Amino acid sequence: PTDTSTRRGAFIVFEGCDRAGKSTQAAKLVEYLQNRHKQPLKNDETSIASNLKVSETMTNNSNDSEVARLWKFPDRTTLIGKMIDAYLKKTKDLDDHVVHLLFSANRWECMNVIKNILMSGTTLVVDRYAYSGAAFSAAKKDLDINWCKSPDIGLLTPDIVFFMDLEPEEAVKRGGYGKERYENLEFQKKVRKVFLDLKDSSWKILDARQTIPELHQQIIETAEEVIKKCESIPFSENLWK
Ligand code: TMP
Ligand code: MG
Repeated sequence: PTDTSTRRGAFIVFEGCDRAGKSTQAAKLVEYLQNRHKQPLKNDETSIASNLKVSETMTNNSNDSEVARLWKFPDRTTLIGKMIDAYLKKTKDLDDHVVHLLFSANRWECMNVIKNILMSGTTLVVDRYAYSGAAFSAAKKDLDINWCKSPDIGLLTPDIVFFMDLEPEEAVKRGGYGKERYENLEFQKKVRKVFLDLKDSSWKILDARQTIPELHQQIIETAEEVIKKCESIPFSENLWK
């Protein structure tokens, strides 16, 4: 058996176009992973307590006893994240190259914290990553896909990417898009095309038209396998190398 003190957490990424259900499924996976380590006799009240813990995970520092933790890119709380936030809310215009590099820098600035979380044995569930970075920028007219991928080369490699695939025509029916930059049908159609070209061996494509419980079931089955498998293998910093 593996020495528990050396077990690392898994690096699990959710990707997809806007309104595909990534945030819902990422939060449900974290909640599930936290609850599955609870005593079988515990009742609903404890699951409410652990739900509260999920919402605190974005602000708390790494905690050795934590089973799973939620993360999100862009991380809008950092200085770089605040510039990205202003760009997305359209209070600031930035050159396409510049904002692309900011999104990438926003990932790089989090790498040390993320590595420490994984090494402490906590599984990290991440809502968007470098695939969003490349897909959204390369969907713009003048940015080449290889140029878009290059600043993220060498980032931590995900142990699995759940790609929540939904036709943007379906996504828009889910209560419509918000007011942020990129939230329009024509652009999202281009983004989905680029996304699908980025598929690699770490991807599991999910049909996001399914119900929330159906998707959750598939996700937890695969996530459990991945978590088990990567307990004994070190993480690698080889993205797109
Ligand atoms: P969010 O809606 O998940 O907070 O993401 C904000 C928007 O930023 C979303 O439309 C996707 C886009 N995005 C990029 O353009 N590049 C990136 O690297 C990331 C992480 C997101
Ligand atoms: Mg959004």
